[in-house]
Amino acid sequence: MLGYGYLTGLEDVDQLQDLALLQREVLFATVLGGVFAIRWFGVTYLQSRSSALPTETPQWQRTAAKLVKHGMYISVLGIVLSGLAIAYSPYASLQSVFVFLHELILGVTPFLIGAHIMGVVFHMVKRDGVVRSMWR
Ligand code: HEM
Repeated sequence: MLGYGYLTGLEDVDQLQDLALLQREVLFATVLGGVFAIRWFGVTYLQSRSSALPTETPQWQRTAAKLVKHGMYISVLGIVLSGLAIAYSPYASLQSVFVFLHELILGVTPFLIGAHIMGVVFHMVKRDGVVRSMWR
C-alpha cells in the first residue's frame, strides 16, 4: 500500500484543483492511516509484553529495534496526517509548511524501512526466531 502511495504521489499542489483526484488521495490516505494505526496499536498493546529478542541482545540493539519499529509507524502516519493537512489547509502559507513536512517525512521513511529490512535479514541469518515472531 505504501509502495502504491509512493508510485502515485502527486507532483505539485496545483493538482489538488482536480476534485476527483483530491477525493482519491484523501480516501487512500485515510485507509492507509487506518491500517497502520490499527497495526501499531496491535503490536504495541496486544502482543505479549516480553520481547522476542534473545536475552543476550545488547541494550543498544534493543533500543535501535524499538526506535526503527515505532519510527516506521510514526512516519507513515506523519505522511498521512501531513497529506490530510495539505488537503484541508485554509491558507496557502500554512499549506506550504505541510508540503515541506510531507516531503521531509516521505524522504526519511525509506531509510527506516531499509533499516527494518536490514534487521530482518540479520535475524534471518541468525535464525533466532525473531523473524517468526514478527508474523504473529
Ligand atoms: C490527503 C492526502 C494527501 C494529499 C492531499 C497529498 C498531497 C500531496 C502534494 C500536494 C504533493 C506535491 C508536493 C509538492 O508540491 O512538491 C504530494 C507529493 C507526494 N505525496 Fe502526497 N498527499 C497525500 C497523501 C499521500 C500519501 C498517503 C502518500 C503515501 C506514500 C503520499 C505520497 C506522496 C509522494 C511520494 C509525493 C511526491 C514527493 C516528491 O516528489 O518528492 N501522499 N502529496
